[in-house]
Amino acid sequence: MSIERLGIVGSGIMGAGIAEVAAKAGIEVVLRSRKQETADAMVAALEKSLGKQVEKGRIEETAAKEVLSRVSAHHDLHALANCDLVLESVVEDLDVKKDLFSRLGDVVSDTTILATNTSTLPVVELATTVENPDRVCGIHFFNPAPAMALVEIIRPITASDATIEAATAFAQACGKTTVEVQDRAGFIVNALLFPYLNNAVRMLENGTASREDIDAAMKGGCNFPMGPLALLDLVGLDTSLSILDALYAEFRDPNYAAMPTLRRLVAAGQLGRKSGRGFYDY
Ligand SMILES: NC(=O)c1ccc[n+]([C@@H]2O[C@H](COP(=O)([O-])OP(=O)(O)OC[C@H]3O[C@@H](n4cnc5c(N)ncnc54)[C@H](O)[C@@H]3O)[C@@H](O)[C@H]2O)c1
Repeated sequence: MSIERLGIVGSGIMGAGIAEVAAKAGIEVVLRSRKQETADAMVAALEKSLGKQVEKGRIEETAAKEVLSRVSAHHDLHALANCDLVLESVVEDLDVKKDLFSRLGDVVSDTTILATNTSTLPVVELATTVENPDRVCGIHFFNPAPAMALVEIIRPITASDATIEAATAFAQACGKTTVEVQDRAGFIVNALLFPYLNNAVRMLENGTASREDIDAAMKGGCNFPMGPLALLDLVGLDTSLSILDALYAEFRDPNYAAMPTLRRLVAAGQLGRKSGRGFYDY
């Protein structure tokens, strides 16, 4: 099954990035946000981003217009009815995602693939909220979606081979490299990445080094493009905390037990880049 019409639910960092990637790959994109203004703002942001890419000579003006013409914005869930694939990218909260999946199941056709961009949550729990759970899987893009090469394809025990094949073909059509992974919290990348990020916060708490020196050390010493504290700010501290909590709930490994500073920053509404303040000010 080839994906010609993609629905995206959620207008945050990831939803916007995935919309750009898919529209550039020639796929029709139906964006759905709870508020029409937010959905419209995503299209306006995409138009601005494409305008900048035209100025820099990265894309032809006619191609940019075609990309934009493939994207529509809606607040009504029923706008997703004719999609071949709906990928949700709303807040990392199992109850919110379960509720959304069960409502999506009532709106789309029996053959529509339903996927989640969750970073850690059990995909099987979303699958069991819909009829035909064999058509549910995880399609995990990375941040920023237009720049990052990888997509993890998550196979819950309920998924059919056809669903996994279609999801893999979709991600590859978007120009991404895919890996397949079982439905375990954190999949491959976040299960390995987050103990490192969390231990960077521990090091900051212990006063071992300043935030600037921790970040500079990992950039210069490991050739990482950014340091761990700057990366947490990019991911979003609320999303990072949810990821650690889900990893800890699954594995009970102390390396996944979120450091108090992270929890306090989130409680204070300092969520990283998206709120203008986190470990750094923006
Ligand atoms: N930020 C990252 O680096 C990253 C990377 C890969 C995957 N993800 C995953 O993508 C998903 C979205 O993350 P994001 O970084 O785009 O988050 P975000 O905070 O930027 O956006 C969250 C979106 O969820 C919506 N939302 C909030 N509460 C809701 C509710 N009760 N019902 C419906 N929608 C609600 C918000 O309006 C917003 O559109 C999460 O599952 C996250 O784990 C994030």
